[in-house]
Amino acid sequence: MKKIIIHGGNKLHGTVNISGAKNAALPLLCATLLCGGEHRLSNIPHLRDINTVIQLLETMGAKITRSENSATLQADKVVSVEAPYDLVKTMRASVLVLGPLLSRFGKARVSLPGGCAIGARPIDLHLKGLAAMGAEITLDHGYVEATCKQLHGATIYFDTPTVGGTENLMMAATLAQGTTILENAACEPEIVDLATALSNMGACISGAGTDTITIDGVDHLVPMNHRVMSDRIEAGTFMVAAAITKGDVTVANADPEYLDAVISKLSESGATVEHTPAGIRVIGSAQIKPLQIKTSPHPGFPTDMQAQFMALLTLAQGTSIISENVFENRFMHVCELQRLGSNIRIDGKQAIVEGVDMLCGAPVMATDLRASASLILAGLAADNTTEVARIYHLDRGYERLEEKLLALGADIQRVSA
Ligand code: UD1
Repeated sequence: MKKIIIHGGNKLHGTVNISGAKNAALPLLCATLLCGGEHRLSNIPHLRDINTVIQLLETMGAKITRSENSATLQADKVVSVEAPYDLVKTMRASVLVLGPLLSRFGKARVSLPGGCAIGARPIDLHLKGLAAMGAEITLDHGYVEATCKQLHGATIYFDTPTVGGTENLMMAATLAQGTTILENAACEPEIVDLATALSNMGACISGAGTDTITIDGVDHLVPMNHRVMSDRIEAGTFMVAAAITKGDVTVANADPEYLDAVISKLSESGATVEHTPAGIRVIGSAQIKPLQIKTSPHPGFPTDMQAQFMALLTLAQGTSIISENVFENRFMHVCELQRLGSNIRIDGKQAIVEGVDMLCGAPVMATDLRASASLILAGLAADNTTEVARIYHLDRGYERLEEKLLALGADIQRVSA
């Protein structure tokens, strides 16, 4: 078991390059199941979740060659249409193979993901949508079994905007007969990236990035050649790192257009945020102002940045209120932040954060991906030494995080426990 040890107190300085987005790369990799031929993807981050989806595609028969941050993928001969429990339980996004498999082969068998540290996270809306497109869906021994002769277009209204559901149905609809309209669709930038790649494959999609997406089914698709967008959550995490250490960091290769809510809240907290030719520059302020934050689907404040902002606000001068509206149980980091001396109270969907003058290093345990990031951020600002255990969560979604922080001047190292 590895852990990360941080001696806090260093101000971060310099420029950091942001990697490709995990949440964009995962559906793009699944989309390569939609047709044979050689797909080329670049800017793929090296992450545990990416390895998991590649392993999944390989068990299905795909031939994959990786070099640096690129990969070629070929799913000419698919020998299995099953996503087994062992893989799905480690990474829920495995359910994104359902739409492509059903659309191309008329069958798929995918394990139900089960519970998750941050909430129930059902996939009922994915399944309802596929059923509306003509799939027969049954549940068997913990697996979703879906079959169809050919999917047909349908108008599907999502009760709640779901990122994965929108992606799954968008992929399924590319090869369906007729027109599919997704209403109350999620608008996340990763959906736009997927739609761009699918369009390059010959799919006919309009409206991605708005709440109504229209897909006219086509007879066949061709392989994609696509560069994965940069990771807006990694970018946001480094921006908070600059603010919490009162440093001066430029985040290169990030798209400011997708970071409006994060930039606006960072500025409100007192940090200076500048758009420079080299990237987004964040200069931390000596005093952090308290904030009111409400997470919501894009373009609202991202739930994936909630834990990192909570770390920042533990050191604000006054009381902040954070409302988590996307997932029901996404405050697992609170108890660990309390171990570092923060003053946080949970009241239903809200966390009330009373700022303290300083955090004190302590051993803490990561509970999920973004919770791990918040503990690292708090450790960077805390007195003395913070040890973060269970960092396998971190490796699911941050490429070389400690190396990048080290280059910015942090005193951080990964050690074997
Ligand atoms: C994706 C992101 C994750 C992010 C989340 C919200 C990936 C790989 N993961 O997760 O990092 O935190 O979006 O921005 O892209 N829901 C249902 N029924 C469904 C599907 C979802 O009730 O069938 C609910 C969920 O429980 C949750 C909400 O809808 O409360 C949003 O979930 P969703 O957008 O689907 O999240 P993911 O796609 O799993």
